[in-house]
Amino acid sequence: MRERILAAADHIRALGAPRPDIALVLGSGLGPLADEVQGMAIPYADIPDFPVSTAPSHAGQLRIGRLFGRDCVVMQGRVHMYEGYSPQEVVFPIRVMQELGAYTLVLTNAAGGMNPVYRAGDLVVIEDHLSLAVASGLDPLRGPNDPDVGPRFVSMNRAYDPALVALAERIGGLRRGVYAHVVGPSFEPPALIRMLKSAGCDLVGMSTVPEVIAARHLDMKVLAISAVTNIAVDSTANTHITNEDEVWETARAIQPRFLALMQALIPALPKE
Ligand code: 6GU
Repeated sequence: MRERILAAADHIRALGAPRPDIALVLGSGLGPLADEVQGMAIPYADIPDFPVSTAPSHAGQLRIGRLFGRDCVVMQGRVHMYEGYSPQEVVFPIRVMQELGAYTLVLTNAAGGMNPVYRAGDLVVIEDHLSLAVASGLDPLRGPNDPDVGPRFVSMNRAYDPALVALAERIGGLRRGVYAHVVGPSFEPPALIRMLKSAGCDLVGMSTVPEVIAARHLDMKVLAISAVTNIAVDSTANTHITNEDEVWETARAIQPRFLALMQALIPALPKE
């Protein structure tokens, strides 16, 4: 496993990329932040073993350079398990970005809101997750472990760095929430939303959790932020039909506040 990570990282370094401190993954509709990066762009397709996104408006390139005064590597677009990628394939770029030097990982996503106090357009900092998929075998760490990458068993307690959660609350005025991970691509039926709510989940989405697990395997510090793009439907009595357009439209509308949040947060992230 380590050889493939090194091969991809060496390829990126050979293109003249500077060493990043922070890795940032931009979720659905949040990609335009990558245009703020002062530096180079490398299409995923040019990097050995990098998975290429099939999702709409996931640009599919790595941006490496200065962002809000810090050295960053930014994924403009990510791949999801619903595209057919294995959890191991989904997390490969995280391992490459860590190999390049990143010790803090900031993940972002578009999510459905389940906590009744959330409104579409809210930004929420994730403090914990629940994944029936991971718990049922779709764990990116399943299979042989390379001890040169990380340990066999990895704790998920405090996986979302408590100091970074507190920072997002303080600097961004964000609420915190528990993120429920589903593979998708079908949106959850109301019965599943009721189950996830009763289990204490506040948000639901189709990404982020595999990446968090891989990052903790590498002992990276993790911060994850959800943009609530719609309210998840928990009853068939509700006639609302969730669709992709509403998700993209709200994500686009959140852009200016998301940019302002990142402009405040990124400079405040710890320096090692
Ligand atoms: Cl309602 N569900 C899931 N799984 N992902 C979403 C979403 C809902 N809204 C945005 N992304």
